[in-house]
Amino acid sequence: MSQYQIAVIVGSLRQDSFNKKLANGIAKLVPSEFSLKQVQISDLPLYDQDDDANQADSVKRLKSEISAAQGLLFVTPEYNRSMPGVLKNAIDHASRPYGQSVWAGKPAGVIGASIGSIGTALAQQHLRNVLAYLDVATMGQPEAFIHVRDGLFDAQGNIGPSSVPFIQNWVDHYVAWIKKHVQ
Ligand code: FNR
Repeated sequence: MSQYQIAVIVGSLRQDSFNKKLANGIAKLVPSEFSLKQVQISDLPLYDQDDDANQADSVKRLKSEISAAQGLLFVTPEYNRSMPGVLKNAIDHASRPYGQSVWAGKPAGVIGASIGSIGTALAQQHLRNVLAYLDVATMGQPEAFIHVRDGLFDAQGNIGPSSVPFIQNWVDHYVAWIKKHVQ
């Protein structure tokens, strides 16, 4: 078993999501001691505080996958200059009931791709605020705001050769960040 299990939370449910492709591509750029697994958030109900004492099975599954992971990777698009609701919904679920959040203390990276020119900068900034409150140790630098253009992915959906060096550099820092925080 890999030494570092990483729970990957992708903020898009879209079948052909660029961010899913980016997450899949990053999974190929990490060293073999890392194992990245995308957690499912598509079947989570809308968060309702009335259900805190009786969380859905999908919520329990999400919480157990986050708990078991040594680190987190958020890969998100930007929706209307913020993070998508599905991502915030997942974050809220795993933060509750009060006092039973599974986020605290986990090291994390935040990255994202969008077709807009600011490449998810504002979505990432909003996400960072939320993660700071939840006591997630989010890597500050380097930042990666990925503008989706021709060549970002090849025909097979892998990260294209011209984009690999930039993303590999980000991944190398991310790997070091996780290792620094996991004893
Ligand atoms: C978008 N998109 C978008 N892009 C951006 O750069 N900034 C933004 O604020 C928004 N806002 C926005 C809102 C909504 C509701 C949608 C559906 C889309 C475009 C977005 O970058 C594009 O749809 C990406 O393809 C979404 O990422 P995935 O699904 O490909 O991972």
